[in-house]
Amino acid sequence: MQVTGKVVVVTGGANGIGKALCEAFHSAGASKVVVADMDSSNARAVAATVDGAAFKCDVAQEKDIAHVIDETERQFGPIALFCSNAGIGGGFDPMSVNAGGASDEPWQRSWAIHVMAHVYAARHLVPRMKARGGGYFLNTISAAGLLSQVGSPAYSTTKHAAVGFAENLAISHKAHNIKVSILCPQGVDTNMLRSIPKGPQSGDGDLAPEQVAKDVLAGLDQETFLILPHPQVLGYMRKKTENYDRWIGGMAKIQAKMRDEFGK
Ligand SMILES: NC(=O)c1ccc[n+]([C@@H]2O[C@H](COP(=O)([O-])OP(=O)(O)OC[C@H]3O[C@@H](n4cnc5c(N)ncnc54)[C@H](O)[C@@H]3O)[C@@H](O)[C@H]2O)c1
Repeated sequence: MQVTGKVVVVTGGANGIGKALCEAFHSAGASKVVVADMDSSNARAVAATVDGAAFKCDVAQEKDIAHVIDETERQFGPIALFCSNAGIGGGFDPMSVNAGGASDEPWQRSWAIHVMAHVYAARHLVPRMKARGGGYFLNTISAAGLLSQVGSPAYSTTKHAAVGFAENLAISHKAHNIKVSILCPQGVDTNMLRSIPKGPQSGDGDLAPEQVAKDVLAGLDQETFLILPHPQVLGYMRKKTENYDRWIGGMAKIQAKMRDEFGK
């Protein structure tokens, strides 16, 4: 798809990858870019630079997503592309004391933001897209949703669930001309990445959010399900499916190295 002349919504658009997506969609000629974020001051700042609109929204709340969709379509017309991009780090324990963690809170928060937010977007937009003959969802997930991120069980698990939901969205609605892409980078130089110590997620180099946004435009143009700004990820996926046990062993070695480094 081309975003030229289209209405686009980006959740988590106030910072990082989402901000770069808003800027790239504006430069590519989107008719309106809607920045939906909990961080309302930065959302307004980004909207001002892209001649867009800002909505304060907690993607974990279905009513907030429904409101963004209703108001965007009322004010600016049909949403052609909805980007579920908001995300949180969700706890990082380099020692991996217990993969189950100590409480439900980080799991529930990650589940709400990384999975249910995508479900709510679909619940409220699919009927409209079906009625008008199609639409597009771009879901920012992570290489952690395909490969796991050492030290981040809640993040990795909910990102895997997000991949599962995106596959189902694509399968269920291909016949309705609803397209889906998942964005699965490794390290991207944003506040989220800077909030955790440097680790294996940066092994192939951290990308600038602007580079990731360029890769998204190319991926949308080609309408590929999988958008991999770090092409190495495809090789890792192949290795994982070729021999799962060897892959677990390799990841456990990375975990052991991390424990040594952080345990000093
Ligand atoms: N930075 C990386 O290395 C990296 C790698 C792979 C995937 N990702 C994914 O990219 C996406 C964007 O992350 P980023 O790196 O740009 O981080 P970021 O922290 O710079 O931006 C995240 C944005 O999401 C917003 N947000 C968080 N919770 C929200 C909520 N409940 N409702 C509405 N907005 C909310 C924040 O206010 C912020 O503007 C996330 O889904 C993240 O998991 C990031």
